[in-house]
Amino acid sequence: MRGYNLVLIFFFLLHLLSLALGSRLSRTQCSFSEDKGSTLRVIHVTSPCSPMKPKTTMSWEESVIQMQVQDQARLMYLTSLVARKSVAPVAWGRQLMQSPTYLVRVNIGTPPQTFLMALDTSSDAAWLPCTGCLGCPASSAFAPDKSSSFIALACAAPQCQQVINPTCFQNVCTFNQTYGGSTIAANLSQDTVALAQDSVPGYVFGCISKATGTSVPLQGLLGLGRGPLSLLSQAQDLYKSTFSYCLPSFKSSNFSGQLRLGPVAQPKRIHFTPLLKNPRRSSLYYVNLIGIKVGRKTVDIPPAALAFDSTTGAGTVIDSGTVYTRLALPVYTAVRDEFRRRMGNATITTLGGFDTCYTVPITVPSMTFMFQELNMTLPQDNFLLHSASTSTACLAMAAAPDNVNSVLNVIASMQQQNHRVVFDIPNSRVGISREPCS
Ligand SMILES: *[C@@H]1O[C@H](CO)[C@@H](O)[C@H](O)[C@H]1NC(C)=O
Ligand SMILES: *[C@@H]1O[C@H](CO)[C@@H](O)[C@H](O)[C@H]1NC(C)=O
Ligand SMILES: *[C@@H]1O[C@H](CO)[C@@H](O)[C@H](O)[C@H]1NC(C)=O
Ligand SMILES: *[C@@H]1O[C@H](CO)[C@@H](O)[C@H](O)[C@H]1NC(C)=O
Ligand SMILES: *[C@@H]1O[C@H](CO)[C@@H](O)[C@H](O)[C@H]1NC(C)=O
Repeated sequence: MRGYNLVLIFFFLLHLLSLALGSRLSRTQCSFSEDKGSTLRVIHVTSPCSPMKPKTTMSWEESVIQMQVQDQARLMYLTSLVARKSVAPVAWGRQLMQSPTYLVRVNIGTPPQTFLMALDTSSDAAWLPCTGCLGCPASSAFAPDKSSSFIALACAAPQCQQVINPTCFQNVCTFNQTYGGSTIAANLSQDTVALAQDSVPGYVFGCISKATGTSVPLQGLLGLGRGPLSLLSQAQDLYKSTFSYCLPSFKSSNFSGQLRLGPVAQPKRIHFTPLLKNPRRSSLYYVNLIGIKVGRKTVDIPPAALAFDSTTGAGTVIDSGTVYTRLALPVYTAVRDEFRRRMGNATITTLGGFDTCYTVPITVPSMTFMFQELNMTLPQDNFLLHSASTSTACLAMAAAPDNVNSVLNVIASMQQQNHRVVFDIPNSRVGISREPCS
């Protein structure tokens, strides 16, 4: 009998050991041990560590087309921001997702609850699903009742004036907001938020109680815009409105990049371009794109299509939530035609929304974005999308879709991969330099 018990205990211990090993293995693969000081690991939303990774294994072509479709919804969102429309057009709702591209690990509450929140440089507020939320994705939700530092903000709280159209429900400040094809209703709340080794007590965010549509990131969103409720404003003392990121290469969803918060440890020797301010859309990062070079030729673009205009919202923004650069129609047409001309007589094919594809091998001209005081010459991987299965390579940029009358040029994440992009708001400038981060 005693021997039998010992055998049982032995197997029980073995079982415990294998559990411990198993969880350690999965933790190593999706480890955020690089989150140190004020630097966070940035993973792609399709990463094996992401709660939003696609369930089905899509072919490369399918995923390219899917990302383009999502980009159109993103463009609609940015365009609606620029036009100050509060409601996104319904036609884009439901089936189309406007899902963000990159995630960082954030701890909220006391004791901390961990979330992989989507980064959005074109949004200000942070929000995430809370327990009891109706219509939120059935993933992890923040449990306010399990955090000793949680506060639901009262209607009289000064921060209640910083959200658009606040309402009062049982003396809790609530607000509604659209995001892509989704609408959220949230309670304005406050709790300790920890990023890497930094702690921001009393961080104000939305605790979602109701959501419609499919655009809500599973574990919430962290706004890195410039407005009053963004991380930069709320952690102003800590980060001095300065941050940088290096977005991971598109070659594998396993790669990760970096988000570095605050002025310490930012690159010193880097070229900057002035950051422009649009008082009507204070959260967006506008820069002055003055030209585009294809090969050695500066493309002939009507200056009005590049000019910054705070009234119409026209101009160029740097965004991390759009995947492929979108140019206003006259800009795209000019760039594409010059690119095609340089490709000579090679046969042009299409793929998804891309209209300038070729069968490899090909030799392509270089591509340079000329910003005021800063030229960004793109490595081939940043403007050419390769399909291994069909031996196709496409110019990875597009015009705004026909039904989006967009005056906005959006420098998107594919074009920024493996570059350090520094947002230095106190000095009104954006720095860009090449940096292989994955
Ligand atoms: C906000 O959304 C909630 C839930 O969908 C709804 O009951 C409420 O009327 C909305 N409030 C406003 C001001 O639109
Ligand atoms: C939002 O606040 C109301 C009023 O106190 C409360 O009934 C509701 O449960 C809260 N929602 C969430 C998701 O915490
Ligand atoms: C990601 O890493 C895993 C494990 O190392 C590997 O099996 C998988 O093929 C990788 N995926 C990509 C897209 O490289
Ligand atoms: C394109 O084809 C035409 C006619 O065949 C030829 O004259 C021309 O040299 C070709 N151009 C290039 C760049 O190959
Ligand atoms: C960018 O490139 C253009 C054209 O080659 C050149 O005239 C300009 O001086 C460059 N600007 C900087 C800041 O290097």
